[in-house]
Amino acid sequence: MSKSLILSVFLVFLAGSVFACVDPYNPNDVTIGNCQANDITNYRITDNLPVLTPSDLSASELAIHEANMNYTLNLSKSMNRKFVATIYDANNNLMCSGVNTGKPNMISHGEIVAINNCSALYNTTVFTNMTLYTTGEPCAMCASALLWADFKTVVYGTANKRLYCQTCMSNIPIDSSYIMGRYYGLRNRAPRLIGGVLQSLTDAWFTSYCDKPNSIYYMQPQCACQSSTPTTAPTTA
Ligand SMILES: *[C@@H]1O[C@H](CO)[C@@H](O)[C@H](O)[C@H]1NC(C)=O
Ligand SMILES: *[C@@H]1O[C@H](CO)[C@@H](O)[C@H](O)[C@H]1NC(C)=O
Ligand SMILES: *[C@@H]1O[C@H](CO)[C@@H](O)[C@H](O)[C@H]1NC(C)=O
Ligand SMILES: *[C@@H]1O[C@H](CO)[C@@H](O)[C@H](O)[C@H]1NC(C)=O
Ligand SMILES: *[C@@H]1O[C@H](CO)[C@@H](O)[C@H](O)[C@H]1NC(C)=O
Repeated sequence: MSKSLILSVFLVFLAGSVFACVDPYNPNDVTIGNCQANDITNYRITDNLPVLTPSDLSASELAIHEANMNYTLNLSKSMNRKFVATIYDANNNLMCSGVNTGKPNMISHGEIVAINNCSALYNTTVFTNMTLYTTGEPCAMCASALLWADFKTVVYGTANKRLYCQTCMSNIPIDSSYIMGRYYGLRNRAPRLIGGVLQSLTDAWFTSYCDKPNSIYYMQPQCACQSSTPTTAPTTA
């Protein structure tokens, strides 16, 4: 075989293998809907749910959330437990609360305990139009539970990123906005997610576990850290 023939065979082979490896999922070239039996399937790509912050809210709405978060934080302090959740109905009446006591098991997070508490107290199966407050952002498990339970609004104080990356508390490193952005699989209406309500108070309450490796909360975080104040001046070309 001549060198050029070997080269052409090689190029044809290379082109074939490149095309064979093209990912069949091109988000710009798919039909969103229910797939045929023989289709290669994937989920609709979605953005994370935007997280509203106190500055996005009207003064009257913020006042309600701050008062309810203050109550939730107060309960948290009075029980000496970090993670506490409360549920308010559409008319802003306190329905029930939930405290993470680690009992009966590790999935007894404040949100889960509160949902079960309200269901036991009021025979409630769905929480449409209700608001849940929690001192710390819902973890991946709780964010999912809040979607299943159909909450209208979820309000938290301190974000998961801060709890995990800056205070060394164990968590599944996923923002609740990632889970909640996938609401379309369960319902047509996005929940409202509000973060950072009374954050200076909840941050102070969580403190730091980075120097407490024996705490049940401690986990050495694996975060990509970036200084918010650059140590070197940007160079100009
Ligand atoms: C929270 O409640 C306490 C009383 O427990 C009160 O002193 C404080 O001013 C309240 N803070 C906010 C921000 O509502
Ligand atoms: C906060 O809790 C204390 C008891 O620990 C109570 O006396 C006070 O009224 C509570 N404040 C609010 C705003 O709920
Ligand atoms: C359930 O909620 C009620 C009403 O807020 C509260 O008094 C009670 O302590 C809560 N129970 C649990 C297990 O958190
Ligand atoms: C709870 O609600 C269901 C309907 O959703 C009803 O059939 C059942 O009787 C209720 N149970 C109690 C204890 O009220
Ligand atoms: C939720 O609120 C909407 C709008 O006010 C109302 O139409 C609907 O009946 C409410 N659903 C429940 C379960 O309360």
